[in-house]
Amino acid sequence: MQKFIVTGGRKLSGETIIQGSKNAVLPILAAAVLIDGEAVIEGAPKLSDTYSAIRILGHLGVKVKYCDSQKTVSVNATQIHAHEIPDEMMKEMRSSIFFLGPVIGRTGSCKLSYPGGCDIGLRPIDMHISALEQMGVKVTHTDEHLHFTADKGLHGAKIALRFPSVGATENIICAAVTAKGTTVITNAAREPEVTDLIKFLNTAGAKIKQAGEGRIVINGVAKLHSLTHTVIPDRIAAATILAGVTAAGGFVTVRNCNPLDMEAILPLFEHMGASVFTGKDFVTLNCGKKLRALPEKLTTMVYPGFPTDAQSVVMGALCKAAGTTVVEETIFENRYRHVPEMQKMGADIVVSGKTAVIKGVKRLHGAKVNATDLRGGAGMVIAGLTAEGVTEIGDIRFIDRGYDELELTFASLGADIKRI
Ligand code: UD1
Repeated sequence: MQKFIVTGGRKLSGETIIQGSKNAVLPILAAAVLIDGEAVIEGAPKLSDTYSAIRILGHLGVKVKYCDSQKTVSVNATQIHAHEIPDEMMKEMRSSIFFLGPVIGRTGSCKLSYPGGCDIGLRPIDMHISALEQMGVKVTHTDEHLHFTADKGLHGAKIALRFPSVGATENIICAAVTAKGTTVITNAAREPEVTDLIKFLNTAGAKIKQAGEGRIVINGVAKLHSLTHTVIPDRIAAATILAGVTAAGGFVTVRNCNPLDMEAILPLFEHMGASVFTGKDFVTLNCGKKLRALPEKLTTMVYPGFPTDAQSVVMGALCKAAGTTVVEETIFENRYRHVPEMQKMGADIVVSGKTAVIKGVKRLHGAKVNATDLRGGAGMVIAGLTAEGVTEIGDIRFIDRGYDELELTFASLGADIKRI
């Protein structure tokens, strides 16, 4: 089993290029099933979740090639032979559910089981199911399987989501792209990754409009055609590097990122004592001071609010910020599993329900910890960079699900971190 060995205390400096977005590339790979031709997807990060999505595409009988040195995937879905996704592939990652909309949209049926992925609390798919039902899909449950069929094809519908779920929004868009008529989604997710999926599909000939806050209008088209698309930069990976520089101190520029997508994240580093400079596609962060706690409660919210995915990495930096910071997690019910691991490193964090109270300590010390989930594991790396001594992080397969060689990125900036 692989581990990260982090020896804390080094300041970071230099420049790094941010990977393509995990949360953009996964739905886009699934949506490639809708293309009657070839989709060339550039900027596809080398992640274990990318490989899981590629395996599902292969199982569906779609031609798929990944050149990981070029970070380019080409998917040719002119032919698709299957409409069911085996249980073991569904269990590999939560994002397997992103295949539901595209497969039903393309073949008129889909069979799958409930998805797996990081254990960060219950992750129901009721909104995905009820939206598809409104579009003419019949859903039957047998044992652990769900069968979706649209014998007469899918039709447009007016779908009001009770919560702006990213995955449900993306599945509805994919199912609606070639459905008969118009679909209108209200209270849709507005995350930049949703916008990137829309851009991908529109480049292929879809007719999707983001028509005001949380409103998406999709006019069904007969077919989608070949295209080339570059996925957006990963705002959470950028936040992770910047949290690392804030925690460890240093002067770093992250390139290939979009500061406009990070407006709820960057001010936090400034409140903690860092100086942040932004350009069109880069962020420079300079931090040499002792860190301060955040002046106000940090609440995770849907976009454009502060993202739940950045909560644990910012917490990694807050462990040593003088004063008390209160964090409230409102998106997932079990997203503090990294806290007991950070406590092993000397962090003073108390969790009560949705709230975590972090009292900044003077020092963290190295410890043996385990990554509990993708972003929690990255939070432990951040804490390790600023701890005295050696931190050994096990179960890094979780971290590899979403970061393209995180240890090499930090090592290139001067951190003492290696994979063994
Ligand atoms: C996506 C992201 C994930 C991020 C999350 C929230 C990808 C690949 N993953 O996950 O990194 O943390 O958005 O920004 O893009 N819910 C229901 N019923 C449903 C669907 C969702 O109750 O049918 C609830 C979930 O349990 C959760 C909340 O809605 O509490 C948010 O989930 P959702 O936005 O759907 O997240 P994902 O699309 O799974």
